[in-house]
Amino acid sequence: MIIASAIAFAVWYLCFRPTSASASTRVPSFSGVAAVRAGGSGKSGSWSGKKDVAAAAADAGANLILIYGTQTGTSEDFAQRLAAESRRHACVPLVLDVDSIEFESLASLGAEAVACFVVATYGEGEPTDSAVEFHEWLTEEADEDALEGLQFTVFALGNKTYEHYQFMGRSVDEHIERLGGSRVYVRGEGDEDGQMEEDFLAWQTELWPTLVEVLGVDLDMADNSLIRLYETRILPSLPQPPTPPAPGTFDARHPFPALITANVELHGQASDRSCRLVHFDLSGSGLSYETGDHLGVLPHNDPELVDAVIGRLGFDPEIVLEMPPVDAAQKPYFPGATTFRNVVTKYVDITTPPSRYVLRALAELASDDAHRAELEDMVDMRSESGKAKYKAFVVDGCATIDDVLARFDSIVFDDMGYFVELMPKLIPRYYSISSSHKQHPNSVHITAVVLQYVSASGLLRKGVATNYLASLAPGADTCDIFIRTSHFRPPPNPATPCIMVGPGTGIAPFRGFLQDRDADRAAGADLGPTVLFFGCRTPDTDYLYADELDAYQASGTLSSLHIAFSRVGPSKIYVQHKIAEHAAQPNKAKYYMEKLAKAGRYQQDVW
Ligand SMILES: Cc1cc2nc3c(=O)[nH]c(=O)nc-3n(C[C@H](O)[C@H](O)[C@H](O)COP(=O)(O)OP(=O)(O)OC[C@H]3O[C@@H](n4cnc5c(N)ncnc54)[C@H](O)[C@@H]3O)c2cc1C
Ligand SMILES: Cc1cc2nc3c(=O)[nH]c(=O)nc-3n(C[C@H](O)[C@H](O)[C@H](O)COP(=O)(O)O)c2cc1C
Repeated sequence: MIIASAIAFAVWYLCFRPTSASASTRVPSFSGVAAVRAGGSGKSGSWSGKKDVAAAAADAGANLILIYGTQTGTSEDFAQRLAAESRRHACVPLVLDVDSIEFESLASLGAEAVACFVVATYGEGEPTDSAVEFHEWLTEEADEDALEGLQFTVFALGNKTYEHYQFMGRSVDEHIERLGGSRVYVRGEGDEDGQMEEDFLAWQTELWPTLVEVLGVDLDMADNSLIRLYETRILPSLPQPPTPPAPGTFDARHPFPALITANVELHGQASDRSCRLVHFDLSGSGLSYETGDHLGVLPHNDPELVDAVIGRLGFDPEIVLEMPPVDAAQKPYFPGATTFRNVVTKYVDITTPPSRYVLRALAELASDDAHRAELEDMVDMRSESGKAKYKAFVVDGCATIDDVLARFDSIVFDDMGYFVELMPKLIPRYYSISSSHKQHPNSVHITAVVLQYVSASGLLRKGVATNYLASLAPGADTCDIFIRTSHFRPPPNPATPCIMVGPGTGIAPFRGFLQDRDADRAAGADLGPTVLFFGCRTPDTDYLYADELDAYQASGTLSSLHIAFSRVGPSKIYVQHKIAEHAAQPNKAKYYMEKLAKAGRYQQDVW
């Protein structure tokens, strides 16, 4: 009987969909007023490099402190949008990353300010990486009255298909109150699986009148001018490129341009889909990884779409620009100076359906009254016809910014930097590493299913990163990458039995696990039973790594392999059926399957 089994299950959320835009909105006049994002003087700094929040607020004259905890950028964008909007309500904002602040200093904000926490839940009901320390402090370390007098509110970001929905936002809300904080406005919750944007806008309806009252601000001081966080500086030519980081210092902000050494189609010819095995060369980078880690990929937009968007905007793609922050304490929008084509290719999200926030800003740039009226109707949450139009054109039609600029062709940007700032940022995509550092210390492999689908409007849409990855030529192209540490690991002791359930591209990390155990076996270790449950449609289409799995069975690395073919024979067979038939510990395995089924994520994650 197997006493100790490591049951591992690859789960990821394939709908990686930031729904927001960067701060800044267009209103009649441009005053050049900056949305202040951080304290400037030395008073707010400390030996730890963390900011004293009260001192930073005093430096900036701020009374609305927006503190975000983000993994993929949405919470930061929401905080910036609140900052931009707050000026219209005579509030003075300060935007801070939660990992940049001294937590104890929050209470000193007193009655003159309100702290608004914009926080996402990540992992399996966990804080984002940047908010781990804050959450530990709130829940375990802070004195009982550590936040006495802090006026606060929370906007939480999550996705209800996860078991621990909104864990972080709810926990922050509860613990700040427990530590003496005073909630001045109800917590908002944005559900990425529903209408995050609408949740966010609806939450703001009463937020602003409440803040005006709590802070006692004078609405005559409201600032309706265009608020920009970055300057647009046009340069005569490309300056010298900055010196690349030294080996060993590559990370998300300084990605490594890895040479592609293999890019192989894994699906059979009979398949109408595509899945790629891509190898990235780490030589000379100083980067290392462990089996089970994730690879961060910074994708490029489709060159045809980039040209189409730039064409509609009417800017010269070869113009060289840089975008330094208005507040010198912040980072530039992108490093150094580069061409507009390169900016749109690498930094701007031009495929995610534009949010109402973006459409509202575009309405103000439309010279045609009919265009402006239609856009304003689409963003008006009280207009039933507008809501229906937004749903049909933007949401169901999966409209890109190109579609919007084509339909409303009287929109004119007179500043290319404003376009860049208005659009959401192009964010990295993560992939489970499909190799073992024991067999491939200088190379990382991933297994990526190429995303293509047809929108309700009948148009072919392509996932940014996967189509970019599929286009990369081995031996010639490079791709910007970084390694993200994960908690997902093979059992450290090779003798520990390991049951892996990896349907579809869920097999991705387990290819790494198998390589790991294969290396241990080759080095003379005794392997515990190693069992893989894999699911796909048919043997001819998407049976990934069939030859490798055969070889592992022959060598003894894989003790048993159970394949569920969902489109062979009269009934659909999925991995849960195979587990019920064969699992050594059906109860535990069943637990994982039921967890997924309960969350309604099984089909979504697997196919
Ligand atoms: C920790 C982690 C590990 C991951 N590991 C892997 C892995 O090993 N292999 C892998 O292939 N992926 C993996 N993913 C997913 C991966 O990060 C990307 O999300 C995925 O490859 C799609 O990226 P893309 O840029 O091609 O698509 P995007 O351009 O990001 O497009 C995705 C968006 O398209 C929209 N969309 C998709 N299908 C439809 C449809 N039918 N109708 C309407 N809209 C639709 C959704 O809004 C979705 O959010 C992982 C994700 C995480 C978070
Ligand atoms: C890998 C991953 C794990 C997640 N885990 C949870 C979760 O446990 N609970 C939840 O409510 N939302 C979860 N989410 C959804 C995120 O909270 C949601 O995508 C949010 O918009 C991310 O905000 P950010 O861009 O600021 O990081 C998860 C998302 C990802 C990609």
